[in-house]
Amino acid sequence: MDKILVTGGLGFIGSHTVVELQNEGYEVVIIDDLSNSSEKVLEGITAITGKTPIFEKLDLKEKSKVEAFFAKHNDIKGVIHFAASKAVGESVKEPLLYYENNIGTLVYILKELKKLPEASFIFSSSCTVYGQADELPITENAPVKQAESPYGNTKQIGEEIIRDTCKVVPSLKAIALRYFNPVGAHESAEIGELPIGVPQNLVPFITQTAIGLREKLSVFGDDYPTPDGTCIRDYIHVVDLAKAHVVALQRLLGNKNKANYETFNLGTGKGSSVLEVVKAFEKVSGEKLNYQIVGRREGDIISAYADTTKANDELGWKTKLTLDDAMRSAWKWEQKVRG
Ligand code: UD1
Repeated sequence: MDKILVTGGLGFIGSHTVVELQNEGYEVVIIDDLSNSSEKVLEGITAITGKTPIFEKLDLKEKSKVEAFFAKHNDIKGVIHFAASKAVGESVKEPLLYYENNIGTLVYILKELKKLPEASFIFSSSCTVYGQADELPITENAPVKQAESPYGNTKQIGEEIIRDTCKVVPSLKAIALRYFNPVGAHESAEIGELPIGVPQNLVPFITQTAIGLREKLSVFGDDYPTPDGTCIRDYIHVVDLAKAHVVALQRLLGNKNKANYETFNLGTGKGSSVLEVVKAFEKVSGEKLNYQIVGRREGDIISAYADTTKANDELGWKTKLTLDDAMRSAWKWEQKVRG
């Protein structure tokens, strides 16, 4: 079976994707610098799949080590590239760190892939490229808006770098996957999200509040022009998201792609408000969540959810899990980790 490199394979989305790849029989090699993950995640992956992936601790900023890695693993057929920094606020304070981590390392990897006779490349992009879209649901043809943060800009620039490279390197095929809001955990509770410090994202903040790690959830604004006044997002179960990576990779490996560079939205197609997420959590956990409405968070968009037609039709992929499933698994994981 084909050998696939997963960078950032011990992170939240990466680890769930490694599980799905191994379940499909792929041989997986993980590179991770452990800056926002732990080697213990390997145990979770092994517990679920019965197989331990090859793991090399490697910082992709070290160009010579990246070259040596690819020289050693010259039979790699595809790369799923998750490794990147993702804290929006930090990116505003440390833009060069973000450009170096997210753009510099992407260039190194593409240079190595250029040397291979054939290579398939999957890039973690984000719905952040659309900003506040003019039309909902958001299709892949919606215009890319001026990025709000260096983090968001690295996703836009990353996509452009890949697109430009694919134009001139016929042996390279790539897909950029634009994620909406990934949430939940593996149903086994062997792997899940492990935010360092105070979570910035809604779902880990909810589960940490319920377990007693945080006093209460601040709901950022209830005066938006939405049915209940709170912001709307498209929350996609991380296991559904992970499976989309496998089908995207299979599309490239099987030469079913229409162009050398393609983009796909990955969401459920359904928008949920902050209060709906809170209610879903309360329902599946049986816990009462302590929350308070506070002022708006700077930079928040009002509403974003995906038009999933392209991913459904061309990847033959559909989400199967619900928001309730996601909240149930996130809660089970939180209880296992901190309970
Ligand atoms: C996140 C990123 C954003 C990125 C987007 C898509 C952060 C801070 N923002 O935003 O840059 O473009 O994913 O990749 O990482 N909320 C609360 N209380 C909380 C936390 C969140 O009410 O304590 C609300 C937010 O206002 C928002 C919703 O919950 O309406 C989801 O928030 P979050 O999980 O941060 O995701 P995004 O806002 O989509």
